[in-house]
Amino acid sequence: MVKKLLALGGDGIGPEVLESGLMILETVSKVIKVNFDIDFDLIGGICWDKYGTFCRNITIQKAKEVDAILVGAVGGPKWDAMQIKGDPEDQDGLMCLRKKLDTFFGIRPIKYYKSLHKIIPFYRKNVQNSEIIILREMCGGVMFSKPRGIKYIKNQRYGFDTAGYYELEIKKFAECGFELAKKYNKKIISIDKSNVMESYRLWRDVVQQVSHNYPNTYLEHLYADNCAFQMIMNPKKFDVILSCNFLGDIFSDLAATISGSIGMLPSASLCGSPLNLTKGIYEPVHGTAPELVGTGAANPIGMILSISMMLKYSFGLDIVSKKIEFAIDKTLQNGCHTMDLKGNSSTVEMTNHIIKELKLCL
Ligand code: IPM
Ligand code: MG
Repeated sequence: MVKKLLALGGDGIGPEVLESGLMILETVSKVIKVNFDIDFDLIGGICWDKYGTFCRNITIQKAKEVDAILVGAVGGPKWDAMQIKGDPEDQDGLMCLRKKLDTFFGIRPIKYYKSLHKIIPFYRKNVQNSEIIILREMCGGVMFSKPRGIKYIKNQRYGFDTAGYYELEIKKFAECGFELAKKYNKKIISIDKSNVMESYRLWRDVVQQVSHNYPNTYLEHLYADNCAFQMIMNPKKFDVILSCNFLGDIFSDLAATISGSIGMLPSASLCGSPLNLTKGIYEPVHGTAPELVGTGAANPIGMILSISMMLKYSFGLDIVSKKIEFAIDKTLQNGCHTMDLKGNSSTVEMTNHIIKELKLCL
């Protein structure tokens, strides 16, 4: 069997962690008898420097034709400072890729690691065995809606965005969330600010309506500010969080405190429909960390877990996906920690350690 992939390393540590991810993929491909046909291209600042755009149309075209897309990380201070005008698709390569592929269903799992307990700010009893999945809408809401801009009003600049969702957008996203929660027997907490914002009033109403078709799935609504408080006080309360684009972005970084580092978090952004969500973009949640470039200190786990998510969600290889998670657990237990985890292992050392553990269980 051959699966086609598009690999976009991007900027900063993106290409370094992508390389680690591809080494893991190569290790498993020999065992699962799947050949990955990988095409490479540019995205983000490196693409801007060469072609004057953060993501080329030809790259979008290629992305549409492959089975899954891998992204390292995009952006950096150099390109942020340029303040490119236009829509989010013009300003950021990843936003462009997500929007044009309509990968609206974001899955961001966050897990507690016993071996990292000493570096996280939680009491053991509140956090042990925590596993949270943040489901983030990826293509709408205040990050994309129009009008947006900066204009002169009353002799001063006025910056504005529009926080809006169509009910069908919320419905489709919520249905995907309920299907996932049903499959894994999880409870859902939907977050919003419906106490003060109209768009969230609609959000809560539509999510509630969708829940009537899933009588066996528990649903609770929380105001996002209260959710932030409870997530720190009692992370074990959470299973699946259903959230709009903007809150999902913030809460995925917040929840990363449970895993010890933002470098630990993978993500999938899938397109399709509630019963058919198999194609997507897989990328670590972390940024480009320009200060780490070339030091060999980047944590490859977010990328490697993204590979594991791809095997599970795009290719139905749940067992291999679990084995990668297991190899990562073992590696961490053995004390192989990168700098963000207060250790001194390098990216390559950690990757090789994971490969060694993986080979033992494949
Ligand atoms: C993320 C990132 C992106 C986002 C940035 C790089 C555009 O923070 O994937 O969480 O805001 O979605
Ligand atoms: Mg983010």
